[in-house]
Amino acid sequence: MSSRFDEVIDRKGTHSQKYDMKEAMGKPADILPLWVADMDFQTPETVREALAKAAAHGIFGYSDTDAAYDEAVCQWMSRHFGWDIRKEWLMKTPGVVFAIALAIRAFTKEGEGVLIQQPVYYPFGNMIRRNGRRVVNAPLVFRNGRYEMDYEDLENKIRGEHIRLIIFCSPHNPVGRVWSIEELEKLARLCEYYDVIIVSDEIHCDFTYPGVKHHMLASLSDSWAKRVITCTAPSKTFNLAGLQVSNLIIPDERLRQAMKAEMSRTGYSTLNQMAIIACEVAYRTGEDWLRELKAYLKDNLDYMTAFIKEKIPQVEVIQPEGTYLVWMDFRKMGMTGVELEDFLDNEAGIWLDNGTMFGPEGEGFARINIACPRATLSEALDRLYRATRRLKR
Ligand SMILES: Cc1ncc(COP(=O)(O)O)c(C=O)c1O
Repeated sequence: MSSRFDEVIDRKGTHSQKYDMKEAMGKPADILPLWVADMDFQTPETVREALAKAAAHGIFGYSDTDAAYDEAVCQWMSRHFGWDIRKEWLMKTPGVVFAIALAIRAFTKEGEGVLIQQPVYYPFGNMIRRNGRRVVNAPLVFRNGRYEMDYEDLENKIRGEHIRLIIFCSPHNPVGRVWSIEELEKLARLCEYYDVIIVSDEIHCDFTYPGVKHHMLASLSDSWAKRVITCTAPSKTFNLAGLQVSNLIIPDERLRQAMKAEMSRTGYSTLNQMAIIACEVAYRTGEDWLRELKAYLKDNLDYMTAFIKEKIPQVEVIQPEGTYLVWMDFRKMGMTGVELEDFLDNEAGIWLDNGTMFGPEGEGFARINIACPRATLSEALDRLYRATRRLKR
């Protein structure tokens, strides 16, 4: 059965990082891009219509969010995660990475350590270093094909490095874990005991595969919520990253005021008009579209898993519980990270994010973005298959 997501839409010439920045980023012109975490799908029609109406109105003056916007965000959290938040807890930023940088500046001093769990979304480490803080890594452990937290190591690092702030990824990019309540509880208890603030980056919260439930960390207990800055956004869910909009949920007044004070020092004040419109309409009307999208992504995942199992058995797909980013294990091919990147870029002609970008633990791995039409994914897998066959000869 065909799906609206089957349509291949030409993104060239649209200022797309994925499609228009190949040469600028040193990649071959004919490479097929499956790296940066946006989708090759159109946002829901209702959102497109609302944006077109605003464009036709033609006045793009200073704008701000209103009660209806806040209500749309609050209702989404309540409907999808059973988390009843108050609109006073919301803080809006142009992006989650921006918010992470604010938290680093607001809650730590230069030279202090900030904890992350690699392999992890690389801007976490970049923001820590670029703000003159130290990365303290408590790596995830890969056990029986699954990534887990090592709580003993975590505790040792929190205690030994006097950690005040953790940047936590949930669901986890790139390894695709959706943390269980027990896992979240163990982390939260440690943070409570050692008085650590948690930036919980839950930007991928809407993407879980069948049978998996995402739990918003701060929703688990009022007491833990006091130390959590939850980062959400409609940008991954509805493919709105180019509009720049994210919603932080900060129940604790003291943390929220500290974040707001930090933001006021940057000169940034409010979201842009198109972002406000898109976010509100997406959260109000995007449910059915999202359900269809998730079914399509699951089919893409199954298709890729079966293809690789049959034709490229030396590569392993780490089954994600969430996100449309899939972590692939190429270690049996015996290449270094540099060799793997060269092979994927120049032999296969597919642009994935190399595993080492996420930390040294990613050596021999790469991350593929499967939020694309089946035809695109199929072309990418064919390219990979042909390149691995040439290697064998
Ligand atoms: C875990 C995670 N956080 C944040 C972002 C980016 O968020 P933003 O564009 O709002 O800064 C991404 C994008 O890939 C991501 O995967």
